[in-house]
Amino acid sequence: MDEILIKGGYPLKGEVRISGAKNAALPMLAATILTGGGFTFENVPALKDVETIGRLLAELGATVASESGIVRIDTAGIDKFEAPYDLVRKMRASVLVLGPLLARLKRARVSLPGGCAIGARPINMHLEGLARLGAAITLEHGYVEASAEKLIGAEIFFDVPTVTGTENLMMAAVLAEGTTVLRNAAREPEIIALAEMLNRMGADIQDAGSPVITIHGVRTLKPVTARIIPDRIEAGTYMVAAALTKGNVRITDADPNHLKPVIHKLREAGAHVHLDGTVIVVKGGGPIRSVDIKTLPYPGFPTDMQAQFMVLMSTAGGLSIISETVFENRFIHVSELRRLGADITISGNHAMIKGVSRLSGAPVMATDLRASASLVLAGLVADNTTRISRIYHLDRGYETIEEKFRGLGARIERVKGESAI
Ligand code: EPZ
Repeated sequence: MDEILIKGGYPLKGEVRISGAKNAALPMLAATILTGGGFTFENVPALKDVETIGRLLAELGATVASESGIVRIDTAGIDKFEAPYDLVRKMRASVLVLGPLLARLKRARVSLPGGCAIGARPINMHLEGLARLGAAITLEHGYVEASAEKLIGAEIFFDVPTVTGTENLMMAAVLAEGTTVLRNAAREPEIIALAEMLNRMGADIQDAGSPVITIHGVRTLKPVTARIIPDRIEAGTYMVAAALTKGNVRITDADPNHLKPVIHKLREAGAHVHLDGTVIVVKGGGPIRSVDIKTLPYPGFPTDMQAQFMVLMSTAGGLSIISETVFENRFIHVSELRRLGADITISGNHAMIKGVSRLSGAPVMATDLRASASLVLAGLVADNTTRISRIYHLDRGYETIEEKFRGLGARIERVKGESAI
């Protein structure tokens, strides 16, 4: 397996372009199932997870072609309704085909996604919501079997905001009979992007982005062309990297409106953040101040930026407390950061980070997508060399990450992994 080597100590300087958002592309590509015809997507990131959803759509009978950021999908041939285990286990977001398959084919058989490193990640709210719309749901042999003569609009209340749950049920409801109301819905920008695309397809969705989304069922939908919004987590990762390395980085093709909590916390920590349309300039240099973070559903501080910010706090001048309220086990990166010299104590869902004067390079192991990003960030400032293994996690969500960091002056390279011993 490939590994990444980083020689720390080089402030990042220059310009980096932000790719399309993984977490917008996945539901939007799944939404093509809802109707037959030719769709075109622009600004699609070249990521393993996007490849996986493309393979899943092909498995269902669609034709999928992608070339330099453009993905063309023809769903006229979709006639299968099973998402197999070997694809779902690679990517839990495959569960996003459940709602569209039910809406179009009135049947779906999706392997139950297992847990992952950051938590059990059940899909009970997805299933309860589909049942509210009239689907018969059974679980057997590790698969969710769902079927419905027809889907009928209903009121659905989420115990906690769920991003893919909101997306799944929005997609199931667009062709249901009558009106569906999603209460305590997730408000992420990716939800708004999906709703905008569905409405251009002919759906009637009101107030996406608010906690109460209303969907009036329609009878037919048509294929469209859609552009993927910028990846706010990728952008946030490069912003933290600029502050951490005391560099000066110009981040282009971003959407600062999606990054307000990250911008606020970076400024509180002493970084200079300048906004100019779709450009964000981050300058480090002064002392990094310890600040406290509490992750929350959007528009709160994103859990997907927690690990990255923890690295910044590891080199700050005091004590900071990071509270993870979204996932129950999202501190796996802590033990790897400790190997690099970070001083972090965990108590329940709180991490206490005592800033240290320097981190020191060492071999570490990536465990999940954002944890692996935090190890790259730490390697950028650790003394000597950091070797990161299991970087396939990174390739799921960061497009050409080493090229982008090398373009900013980082000493980073991908090497063939040591053979397993
Ligand atoms: C989405 O995951 C993102 N993935 C995650 O990004 C992100 O961390 C997460 O939202 C939170 O923002 C995609 O969009 C593809 P949730 P999702 O349902 O939808 C619990 C990344 O790094 N829950 O909003 O799976 C759940 O366990 C990934 O790009 C239930 O209990 O997250 C969690 O504690 C990681 N039952 C909380 O809700 C359910 O039926 C929020 O999860 C559904 C969720």
